[in-house]
Amino acid sequence: MKPNLFGVVRYSITFCIAFCFLVSSVKKEDFKTCNDSGFCKLHRAFADTASSKEGLKSHYSILPDSPEVSPEGLTATIISSQDDSKLQLKASFLKNGIVRVRIQELASEIPRYQGPGDYVLKNGEGGLEHSLYKDFKVEPSISQKGVRSHLITYNKNSAGNDLKLLLVEEPFSLVLSEKDDPIIKINSLGFFNFEVLKPKGNSSDGVEQVFEEKFNKWTDKRPRGPQSFGTDISFPGSSNLGEDGMYSEPYRLYNLDVFEHLDDSPMALYGSIPFLISHSTKGTAGVFWLSSSETWVDVTREKSAIPQIVNQIVGTTDKNSMNSHWISESGVMDFFLIPGPTPKDVFSQYSSLVGTTDKPREFAIGYHQCRWNYLDQKDVISVNEKFEQHKIPFDVIWLDIEHTNGKRYFTWDIAKYPDPTEMQNVLAQHGRKLVNVVDPHIKRDNDYYIFKQAEEKGYFIKGSDDKDFNGWCWPGDSSWIDYFNPKASDWISDQFSLENYKNSTPYLFVWNDMNEPAIFSGPEITMDKDIIHYGGVEHRDVHNIYGMLFHKATAEGLIRREKVAKRPFVLSRAYFAGSQRYGAIWTGDNASEWSHLSLSTSMILTNNLVGMHFSGADVGGFFGNPSPLMLTRWYQLGIWHPFFRAHAHIDSKRREPWLFGEPYVSTIREAIRLRYRLLPYWYTLFHEASVTGMPIVRPMWVEFPDFPSIYSMESQFMVGPALMVAPVTEDGEAPIQNISFPDQQSFYDLYEEFSIVGKTARDYPASLSDNPVFVVGGNIFPTRERHRRSSEAMKNDPYTINVFNSIKGGAKGSLYLDDGETYNYKKGGYIYRKFTFKNATLTSQEAERPVGSDNILYEAYRDSVKHIRIERVFVVGMMNSFSKAVITHNGEDREVEVTCTKKRKGRCTVRDPGVSVVDDWSIRLSF
Ligand code: GLC
Repeated sequence: MKPNLFGVVRYSITFCIAFCFLVSSVKKEDFKTCNDSGFCKLHRAFADTASSKEGLKSHYSILPDSPEVSPEGLTATIISSQDDSKLQLKASFLKNGIVRVRIQELASEIPRYQGPGDYVLKNGEGGLEHSLYKDFKVEPSISQKGVRSHLITYNKNSAGNDLKLLLVEEPFSLVLSEKDDPIIKINSLGFFNFEVLKPKGNSSDGVEQVFEEKFNKWTDKRPRGPQSFGTDISFPGSSNLGEDGMYSEPYRLYNLDVFEHLDDSPMALYGSIPFLISHSTKGTAGVFWLSSSETWVDVTREKSAIPQIVNQIVGTTDKNSMNSHWISESGVMDFFLIPGPTPKDVFSQYSSLVGTTDKPREFAIGYHQCRWNYLDQKDVISVNEKFEQHKIPFDVIWLDIEHTNGKRYFTWDIAKYPDPTEMQNVLAQHGRKLVNVVDPHIKRDNDYYIFKQAEEKGYFIKGSDDKDFNGWCWPGDSSWIDYFNPKASDWISDQFSLENYKNSTPYLFVWNDMNEPAIFSGPEITMDKDIIHYGGVEHRDVHNIYGMLFHKATAEGLIRREKVAKRPFVLSRAYFAGSQRYGAIWTGDNASEWSHLSLSTSMILTNNLVGMHFSGADVGGFFGNPSPLMLTRWYQLGIWHPFFRAHAHIDSKRREPWLFGEPYVSTIREAIRLRYRLLPYWYTLFHEASVTGMPIVRPMWVEFPDFPSIYSMESQFMVGPALMVAPVTEDGEAPIQNISFPDQQSFYDLYEEFSIVGKTARDYPASLSDNPVFVVGGNIFPTRERHRRSSEAMKNDPYTINVFNSIKGGAKGSLYLDDGETYNYKKGGYIYRKFTFKNATLTSQEAERPVGSDNILYEAYRDSVKHIRIERVFVVGMMNSFSKAVITHNGEDREVEVTCTKKRKGRCTVRDPGVSVVDDWSIRLSF
């Protein structure tokens, strides 16, 4: 898998950095390579030496007798034989099997940033205390070769196997095993290397320490000096990275605005999530590296030539091993070993740390129409009307930076938008919303109230001269709010109140762009690392979370602005682990290129693996002008991404769907309508993701974990467990898609009346109207089949329940609904139904009791939706032709007619079974 996040799969690798995009014009010279970055170069060179010299072993070992055990975990002292520096290692064990390892100086005169845990972990650092597993056992031992080690047996995984952590004393290494099978190894290649903070001056070997570092015209003063660290983390059993996954440069995790980025490169981009997942037929595991400073990661196959002592102790040969080498500039070395063993376990373990995707507003999963820029109020209203005329549903229209008075966010260009409130009300009457961009750079203008107040209150980030930092962005000279100051963050949240944000209404939502932060005049188009934030924190330590803090403050502002708190909708460009709690992200400035169309899926799948579920790519491509065919294909794919928004650069031609004539407009309409028909399924997936951490869109291996042939597949993917999408991402009227059906299961074409039984592959000529999607047998999903203008207009529509029988007979699925806007669901104000189909009988039961069944909010919500009917049930894949159905509901049996056709191996329809969505009922097909 290419760019964007970090998730190795012990066979195919998935990284979550930010991604990369084609378009040859990326200005590579504006951005560092590993060689341009002193610390990256140093650690890579160290690793090269460690790998090449026969017999060289790590100079780090555990100080004998230093390991100590307490209920909080294990501590030990690591000592370097090179310079006698001492480090403290702390390992703690969590109830769900995760091991946390933290390493830093045992003592230092210069303080080290203690890490972004309070911002990134869902309950802050303190929250983890409740999750500690304290009942572990430690057994010290000495191997035949005299190597001392400590084996900690601490818990069992979901397969019932013991989890064990082995600490080897010399050289220092750690091995996490399930039973006696190693899952993750640390420093088995000897890449562990830690630059201890030292006062300026000569180091012990007389070499002057280099503090300053230059890049292009910028000098990073590095006032605390070098403090980087790195280590190898290996996944034994992984082998198939895929040639295209190997890059000569490491993946770079450093949030940057890379203009016209490449389509396949490990260069940095807007967001980063330092979580790497490994998957093989043996199992799934991962590592989450909690550093918000610049981080580089090499992912390679086994390359060490040295015999690994640790292997002799744990008895593995590591013929197949994927290795990662993690290198961070500053902070504490802090990582979490995620043991799995199933994909589901990994997602739930990871989200136990950083939280899940917050449940979105229902409208936010509909279609969003954006461009830079809708010209004026008339234009907005006319686009709204044109969607009506062309009967294309949409939920949200967006305004980019030109809607403001001179890029002063929270203001309007009143000449172009004379009555913004009226404009929002017109949209609201159609069940639609408006989104305005609010960027983090604040125009330096004494007549601009936001600037004036922030300046007076001292809320701006200070430059090295202790004056407000001044940089260049869209409005010209700008300053940036310091979100590390809780008061400043609180103040910006308040600016979103209906009172403060003039002409805003509850129908207005927000888009945070340029929050990496993008600074046109800064090094690598961002902020200087030696800037000091509130609380004395250096920007270097927290760069990758700056954007997330703005996202968070914006979301909080929207939550607060109404008396009854409503869920916010905020789209952000920059992100980090934890951002999923605050809203959606998109993949930034892509281009109208076929390669970008297909890569959007790689990026969104990777984001989904690492918990950033609510993500999408600009439909149509941001730069350039898509052909009518490309735009149509883009819509056909965009409907399968969790966040679905068309967007375009200011210089691109207008591209609202109706401008392309037939057959394109009808095909696009059909695609968007399909998204709307499936909204109940999407909303249910969002609910489940918010509880379990399961990705919403999934690489094939997540649903078919035992089939290595599809481990690195990105040309097909899953939307939840039920739908397998094989998008058309190439030019041509009817390109042949070779579609793979991995499992011995029925796969049903979603539109046509045929089915296929796996394991097989099939050539599928995809004409313009074809958007190949297959339902995996054994699934049930809800739809709403009436065409409406927006998601709001569908609220009272009846549901259709679609049952797709499995090859062995049987199916299951679910339906979640709530009011789509408040937080009442937290107190039981929701309906969650579980459907099962067995022995020709479909049953609807309550999936989970709402908190306290006498709960008022539950009853009230139930009452408000009990009129919503199930209007139809389809059962597909039935060998028999049934003539009637017996409906059991409220203790009574009723008979209704059933019609069956031979299509799709037999499809039976029960019309109007006369049951409500909130009730328990069953429908038994009979002859
Ligand atoms: C950035 C955004 C893009 C937006 C533009 C103007 O390039 O990524 O989506 O349209 O700024 O605000």
